[in-house]
Amino acid sequence: MWTSIASLLALLSSSAALNIILTNDDSWASANIRAAYDALKADGHDVLLVGPAVQQSGKGGTFVLPTSNITAPGGEFNTVAVGAPYFGHDVKNPDLFYFNGTPAAAVVFGIDILAPIHFGSNPIDLVVSGPNEGQNNGPFTFTLSGTVGATYTAVERGIPAVAFSAGNGTHRSFTTNTGDTSDPANLAAQVVVNIVRALSNNVNVSQERLLPLGIGMSVNIPTFGPGINCTNPPSTFTRLTGGATVNQITLDPTTGFPVANNLEARGVNANINGVRDDPGETPTSAGCETAVSIFSVDYDAPERIAVPIQRRLRKNIRADNLP
Ligand SMILES: *[C@@H]1O[C@H](CO)[C@@H](O)[C@H](O)[C@H]1NC(C)=O
Ligand SMILES: *[C@@H]1O[C@H](CO)[C@@H](O)[C@H](O)[C@H]1NC(C)=O
Ligand SMILES: *[C@@H]1O[C@H](CO)[C@@H](O)[C@H](O)[C@H]1NC(C)=O
Ligand SMILES: *[C@@H]1O[C@H](CO)[C@@H](O)[C@H](O)[C@H]1NC(C)=O
Repeated sequence: MWTSIASLLALLSSSAALNIILTNDDSWASANIRAAYDALKADGHDVLLVGPAVQQSGKGGTFVLPTSNITAPGGEFNTVAVGAPYFGHDVKNPDLFYFNGTPAAAVVFGIDILAPIHFGSNPIDLVVSGPNEGQNNGPFTFTLSGTVGATYTAVERGIPAVAFSAGNGTHRSFTTNTGDTSDPANLAAQVVVNIVRALSNNVNVSQERLLPLGIGMSVNIPTFGPGINCTNPPSTFTRLTGGATVNQITLDPTTGFPVANNLEARGVNANINGVRDDPGETPTSAGCETAVSIFSVDYDAPERIAVPIQRRLRKNIRADNLP
């Protein structure tokens, strides 16, 4: 009996309407970010989109501000004219902004300049970044990715943030979205909505944060959809480490030039902080599962590892130089 009451209560308990800043690195006009905007709005959230004016993939957390108005060749997919202001909104929808800077700079422009206008004195509950066109697995792409860069920048500012990276890496404009639920952009957007629901279900954001200070999430979605070998991926908790790759250099035998190759190196896979039994996100999202990793922006080595190192250094370094 009580189980049916519990499920009734579960039905009645709705997810809160959140104040969300939505950003990415593939530009404000990508199919993925616009599909995520539409899906989050349809789920009842107040969404302010602030994305780079042009493709800013691979910029990590670099912080580059505009020093001029829009220069040639204009905004991504001809969405912004040459000479237009360095930021601006869609002619039809004043909630969709471009900003001519890196993803980390775009999200901070959203936080400091646009959010106070859009949300007034109400706080930003969540930053959503992506879905990126292509996955961002492991600590190496974590620091490389502009999508994740905007995410950890928001987390550093104290705002809960989640990065989404989709398996389908096609760079395309929102105008190419077929409108069908099976369009890869709409499929990825539905994953965004589901994860945001899971994060906010039964949380009263005026009393409680969606994630603790210094903590964010990175979600890697596999390539999926009707007609391919993965149609309905379940979500799995993962670590950034575990089966992750980093660059190795070999020399091209013909040209002599260096070539970068993926190497599953030991350093990048040392499991220092993550949940030991969780699998790595790299092998997980290569299969038919959405990998959900929880990260922290505290780069300090944990006390249990740092203290013995400090003890050893203290013995070997002149005593008057160390506490
Ligand atoms: C940038 O655009 C704004 C708005 O159109 C204009 O007022 C300003 O003069 C422009 N600045 C430069 C340096 O071109
Ligand atoms: C990725 O998306 C593009 C654009 O919708 C589509 O043409 C392509 O088939 C997709 N690739 C896969 C592997 O699903
Ligand atoms: C959420 O918390 C605020 C502030 O404590 C309170 O006013 C509001 O009624 C709560 N909302 C719900 C749905 O419980
Ligand atoms: C689906 O097929 C692709 C391309 O052949 C392959 O790379 C991928 O590993 C397959 N995924 C699963 C879950 O079997």
